[in-house]
Amino acid sequence: MAESRASSEGIVRELPRLRQDFDAALAGVRDGAGLQELRTRFLGRKSGELTLLFGRLGGLKNEERRLAGAELNTLKQEVEARLEARRAELEAGDREERLRHDRVDVTLPGRVGPVGRRHPLTVVREELEDIFLSMGYEVYDSFPEVDDDFHCFEALNMPPDHPARDMQDTFYLEGGDRLLRTHTSTGQIRYMLSNPHPPRVRIICPGKVYRRDDDITHSPMFQQVEGLVVRAGITLADLKGTIEAFLHALFGPQYPIRFRSSFFPYTEPSVETDLGCIVCGGGGCRVCKQTGWLEILGSGMVHPAVFEAVNRKLGKVVYDPEEVTGFAFGLGIERVAMMRHGIDDIRLFYGSDLRFLEQFHR
Ligand code: DAH
Repeated sequence: MAESRASSEGIVRELPRLRQDFDAALAGVRDGAGLQELRTRFLGRKSGELTLLFGRLGGLKNEERRLAGAELNTLKQEVEARLEARRAELEAGDREERLRHDRVDVTLPGRVGPVGRRHPLTVVREELEDIFLSMGYEVYDSFPEVDDDFHCFEALNMPPDHPARDMQDTFYLEGGDRLLRTHTSTGQIRYMLSNPHPPRVRIICPGKVYRRDDDITHSPMFQQVEGLVVRAGITLADLKGTIEAFLHALFGPQYPIRFRSSFFPYTEPSVETDLGCIVCGGGGCRVCKQTGWLEILGSGMVHPAVFEAVNRKLGKVVYDPEEVTGFAFGLGIERVAMMRHGIDDIRLFYGSDLRFLEQFHR
């Protein structure tokens, strides 16, 4: 028994070597990781060299344990203090190093991060909306892009054999009863059906439309703004006056406007509107194909058949063609933007090429 009992001397004798090893290792520490490694080597909970010596105290008699314990504690405190001192030293060195490298030159010009801007089509759409809002119109844009034959064609006086329904123009969804709206004229029908009281309408409907078309002036998806005004006593003069005021607000009052007779199934009479070419001023150029005029929108007086289709769907006469009249118009947003900026390829708007998009004002 007595032999197996360690003496305090056995433990104390190991301390100078431990201290020496610690000194040597500490001198080699260059960073936080090295410091942590050293701490574990000597003070680690399970197998730190110093920790193990503490473990051996249990085998000593009282007096011996007190002596050896005191020595061990002294060394432990010393090791901890020196680890802490080295940590502070390394940190200070780091800070100095950082200050040396990260010096801030407050006289350098600032670096401005990239700033986004509105898409040129968004700019035009918002401008159109502002003009009509200022004329007392409501913006109605919550009608679906996926619609059906009734709202897109039938209610707009396009009977089942009408060529506008041709598979070549319209994207039909699987099953064939639903389609992607080919024009925002669906907004006319949708609005009248959902606002049957009173029969007074003054709206524009901006939105995306879809057609099987893809070349430099046609995109399979493009944007339109539809307009509809319905009230007792609306005449062609109201249509003319409104469109003139709108085009002057959009392009400036210096351009002449002309109205040409045309045809749309949902208007009678139908009127197409041209604007004096804003590129050449009317003399004739590539953009206006030497005519001096740019076709800008389609319009007309709402065909009674449209009101009748709405009434039939409502199950009662709300928009009585004997009582109310109205005018409607529609135009393409891309076309306005192309005219304004002299752009001849519609696909540029949807190519997401920053070299193109960055040329427009915020
Ligand atoms: N829906 C026509 C188109 O997509 C534009 C249009 C023409 C709308 C005449 C109208 C209108 O409301 O009266 O080309």
